[in-house]
Amino acid sequence: MERRDVQGHYERLAAEYDEHWVYAPHHITWLSARLAETLHLSPTDRIADIGCGTGIFAREVARIINPQHAILCVDPSPAMLHQIGTPPPAGLTPIAASAEDVAAGSAQLPYEHLDAIWLKESVHHVADPATTLHGLAARLAPGGRLLVVMLPASIEYPLFQAALDRFTELQPDPERIVDHLRAAGLQPQLLYVEQESCLDRERYIGMVRARYMSLLSTFSDSEIEKGIEEMRAAHPEPVLAFPDRFAFLLGVKPGEGR
Ligand SMILES: C[S@@+](CC[C@H](N)C(=O)[O-])C[C@H]1O[C@@H](n2cnc3c(N)ncnc32)[C@H](O)[C@@H]1O
Repeated sequence: MERRDVQGHYERLAAEYDEHWVYAPHHITWLSARLAETLHLSPTDRIADIGCGTGIFAREVARIINPQHAILCVDPSPAMLHQIGTPPPAGLTPIAASAEDVAAGSAQLPYEHLDAIWLKESVHHVADPATTLHGLAARLAPGGRLLVVMLPASIEYPLFQAALDRFTELQPDPERIVDHLRAAGLQPQLLYVEQESCLDRERYIGMVRARYMSLLSTFSDSEIEKGIEEMRAAHPEPVLAFPDRFAFLLGVKPGEGR
């Protein structure tokens, strides 16, 4: 998708983004706990969630670690950031900027260096991940950690076939991102985490119709409706159970942490 289409997609989706997960709150707590433990987060860390969206994961991470310095919730979409709340909840500071702005040093951050950065399902929106990850790594303090969380190269969601095929076509390969982390001077590590998602079929179909994944914005209304017919035929069961698998790519900056 073009950059302006990405922006438009999230402006339209923002108001209902969190609702999609309300019916699977376990997913938020489970994934946020994996984020906090993989990044070895501590309350004294200076942390940024880049491409934070509505801050739904940052809010849960803040609940887990009780940070002394507010977690910086960085996103270029004003509508997604607006969902964080006014005023923002304790422990979160929204910042309207892109990953590229932070990497280039053009975004004003309250901390000169960061101890931990994560990008969850936002790296695929970054036009030049090698350069941007290099710039983000430069903002890390010695011993700092950068975690990219992304879907794997292919997914087993109960979507229609054309959507699954397009996903595979568009999704960056996690191995390439590992190469970028290494080139940025970080010690990289790739692991996969997985849980089974169970969602009411009609709710999931509503999420597809609302284009809950940016990938679905590449299909017209009639293609989505045709796809939904295909999904209904392939999945007559009232509850859809499918593996939700994420690649966790951790890069650690050499040196002693604080
Ligand atoms: C799939 S959402 C993920 C949001 C959040 N991390 C989560 O997991 O709920 C992708 C987010 O990336 C943001 N985004 C798009 N382009 C970006 C960029 N160049 N830099 C940082 N974030 C970007 C979008 O505005 C959107 O909020």
